[in-house]
Amino acid sequence: MCDGVALDPIAAAEGTPLYVYSAATIAARYRAIDEAFAGYPHAIHYALKANSTLAITRLLRGLGSHADANSGGEIDVALRAGFIPAQIVFTGVGKTLADLGQAIDLGVRTINVESAGEIARVDALSRERQTRTKIAIRINPDVDAKTHPHISTGLKTNKFGIAIGDVPALCAHARALAGVEVVGLHAHIGSQITDLGPLTCAARALVALARELAAAGTRVEHLDLGGGLGVSYDGSPVPTAREYADAVLPIVRESGLAIVLEPGRQIVAPAGALLTRVVDVKNAGEARLFVVMDAGMTELIRPMLYNAFHRIEPVVQTGAVPTSCDVVGPLCESSDTLGKDRTLPRPEAGELYAVLDTGAYGSVMASNYNRRLLPAEVMVEDGVARIIRRRQTIDELLSLEI
Ligand code: LLP
Repeated sequence: MCDGVALDPIAAAEGTPLYVYSAATIAARYRAIDEAFAGYPHAIHYALKANSTLAITRLLRGLGSHADANSGGEIDVALRAGFIPAQIVFTGVGKTLADLGQAIDLGVRTINVESAGEIARVDALSRERQTRTKIAIRINPDVDAKTHPHISTGLKTNKFGIAIGDVPALCAHARALAGVEVVGLHAHIGSQITDLGPLTCAARALVALARELAAAGTRVEHLDLGGGLGVSYDGSPVPTAREYADAVLPIVRESGLAIVLEPGRQIVAPAGALLTRVVDVKNAGEARLFVVMDAGMTELIRPMLYNAFHRIEPVVQTGAVPTSCDVVGPLCESSDTLGKDRTLPRPEAGELYAVLDTGAYGSVMASNYNRRLLPAEVMVEDGVARIIRRRQTIDELLSLEI
């Protein structure tokens, strides 16, 4: 069930693979963060990269969220979902001149700049347009987020941000530029962080830097703490939004600066499930049972890319004998796996399964490899399941080709 609505008939009607989202869960998780930071000036800029299907983006806007866009495409989606430019922060390590020009023309809240070169580009483009663009400087605090190396961004060996030691000189230089105004400091040290230590460490670095800059004449208005707070994929305890707020607020409070937050996973991951049907069950020798699903790395690449764990559960209990198996996808890649060494009631072809906590970085990372079609998406809201993205067709896939 999703919020009291049975999943089996939804899958029968819409086919699989299929993403299903709970609007109520998204709302509850958004509010949990908002309430945890209530009483201190803050803005939640939902990280669209986690899931930017329009219906989800609109739902979050309706809840009062602002947006964090990481590409020109995400800015377009934010605008179509009804955000105004002043509600959008623009992040990203490789913004092109076209991307920057679009953001400057729109007048987004800040462009979160990643390098001295990018500051120069924003300055030049802004002066051409006789305007001054608000920027936040993304610092690289050299903090180990203690997460998977592929989603760690705050170490000096990572490509992200500006070395914290270089920021004071850069700000002194930026003050003399007519095309930019430094209004914020930004840090995002990684994703799926389940230890509050690194997050508080980054917050402390931002506060100390803001103090140092103020003494030298650059007064910022806000600190952007990024996203990164993890969720529990396997049921083990992780810090709640309130614990996160309780850890960082005392640090930031002394600065008096407003907070920007960019949560993505925290809001949407537990709100989504990927429904998939068993295509085949095969024995490979004695030791291994492969359960081949109709979803794989094209719909959910996280297990393959980050060795990520997602619970996989039968949608209808069968009472079959628990059996150990590898749950794999249909693609021509040995690493196309949804779950290794799982124990499931011995699956049968045709049965429906749910891969849980796939609302973030699931559908958005889907691909057309093997000419597979992007999956459909359904949102359950107020007891009603409605399609929010229909399944791609082969004609649509081929329509770009000449
Ligand atoms: N802000 C910035 C600048 C980011 O780069 C990210 C995520 C976020 C906010 C949101 O982070 P979150 O709250 O969702 O952790 N595909 C990977 C995750 C990549 C995250 C990239 N940046 C995965 O499936 O685990």
